[in-house]
Amino acid sequence: TTRVYNLTISEVAGWPDGYNRTMTVINGQFPGPLIEVNMGDRLIVNVQNNGVNMTTMHFHGLFQNGTNFMDGTYQISQCGIPPGGSFTYNFTVPDQYGTYWYHSHYSTQYMDGVIGPLIIHSQEEDSLIGAMYDYDQVVLISDWYHGLAEGYLADYLAPGNENTEPVPDNGLINGAAFFNCSLTPGASCYQQDANRTIFNFEQDKTYRLRVINTGAFAEINFSIDEHPLTLVEGDGVLIQPTTLHKLAVAVAQRYSVLITTNITSTDNFWVRAELDQYCFATSNPVLVDTGITGVLAYTDNADSAALPYSNSMTAETDSWDDVAANILCLDLNNTSIEPMIHIQAPAATVFYRIDSSFQIGDYAIDLGYINGTSWKPASGTSVLNQAYEMLAPGLSSAVVDNNRTELLNTTGPLSLGVFGGNQNQYVINVPDYEVVDILINNLDDGSHPFHLHGYKFWVMGVGAGSFPYNQYGNLNTTNPMRRDTVSVPAYGWALLRFVADNPGLWPLHCHITWHLEAGLLMHFEVQSKKMAQFEPPAAWAQLCAA
Ligand code: C2O
Repeated sequence: TTRVYNLTISEVAGWPDGYNRTMTVINGQFPGPLIEVNMGDRLIVNVQNNGVNMTTMHFHGLFQNGTNFMDGTYQISQCGIPPGGSFTYNFTVPDQYGTYWYHSHYSTQYMDGVIGPLIIHSQEEDSLIGAMYDYDQVVLISDWYHGLAEGYLADYLAPGNENTEPVPDNGLINGAAFFNCSLTPGASCYQQDANRTIFNFEQDKTYRLRVINTGAFAEINFSIDEHPLTLVEGDGVLIQPTTLHKLAVAVAQRYSVLITTNITSTDNFWVRAELDQYCFATSNPVLVDTGITGVLAYTDNADSAALPYSNSMTAETDSWDDVAANILCLDLNNTSIEPMIHIQAPAATVFYRIDSSFQIGDYAIDLGYINGTSWKPASGTSVLNQAYEMLAPGLSSAVVDNNRTELLNTTGPLSLGVFGGNQNQYVINVPDYEVVDILINNLDDGSHPFHLHGYKFWVMGVGAGSFPYNQYGNLNTTNPMRRDTVSVPAYGWALLRFVADNPGLWPLHCHITWHLEAGLLMHFEVQSKKMAQFEPPAAWAQLCAA
């Protein structure tokens, strides 16, 4: 089956929480429309850019096997779609399912509203968990700023800022939230439109909530008063059901949780999406006082007739004790959750150490570095366009294969593959089929949600301090969690393993938008000799001429 979606990008005035600002949105709506496919379908997405800036569309977590040029990353896998221009993404979704999302991959643009959910259904998934729930509900959670991201970005990257990320003004649940307009006198803020999202659910049913952090900076703690969450999926991987009260969702991660509407009181319940303010330079009192909340209302319940609320802050329900005390938090990024379908991690054949840090660079501009390279979008055409130009039949690789490390049991080899002399493109070339270990060392005082395109990786371990090399031979390979985005703790490490079987140029980057734009991005170039077999459409190359 072929599924076609038309996405038109434009600037509009919008006030998701009452505060009126300029947004960049899809089809005049926010959040963008749900893209829904079955595994095996062909997905065609026509993007028309009626905005004032460049755009690209990235389908987060999709493998794009054989269609690297449809990965939608600005100046990495394609040139931007210019204002007034259009481009058609066209690819199949053969071998993955679950909860994903799509977003602009041009600068900070997705923060302004260019996001939407993407769900892949499959018979396999249905046979394993389909009987466990009655209804399916997308829940997008995010931080939210009251201005265009490009303005904050300029301040953030200005000299001498010591990596102080802009502090969010609010958070949203499915594109809506309460905000107290009296806190910003003089701004155009519509109190009557500052309404929370209300989930009207039937009594005594089980709902699958697909919780997606579509934000840019904050990890978000998701909970629902009086309703335990049964975790069944993370980043498109089914999980042995695990019950918890609070879900900590890093930027770009997804989880499916089941809730059952079996409470017999007449209350409406708070749905909470609290931003973790640990990394905020200053704490935002608005977020502390009002919280980021939605409302769960049982449809047959007399109290739900009183909705929408006046937005007074009188909660009908209280938080779980352990959520309020901020204690219980199963660390979902380490190995404590177990996939339903066991896949043994094969032994690694190459090992790369990635040191991620922030440094005050030339002219005192604070930049993020990966092994000493701070990413900037390539000048001229995208890196992949450049690679294709050099990939005429018979040529080997676009990228110099240097310093590849044959591992193992060493004290941490450092790989240095730098693309064609471009100082801002750090590329590790994996020319052949390999099982790759990536040790990410986070030398910064905040955690970083690292995302690898084109793959799911096994999370072989996550920890504080430095990686215990003497334990390298003792890793649990039986059934570690597989995912595409993992939070690497402050001053800590994560060891990721992936099978390099998907030819292409795949970024690995911190998904905190400020950090990405500060340079925390590198690439893996995998089996580049095979890339020439996959022919991009003419329109793809033409984008670079525009
Ligand atoms: Cu969600 Cu590089 O992407």
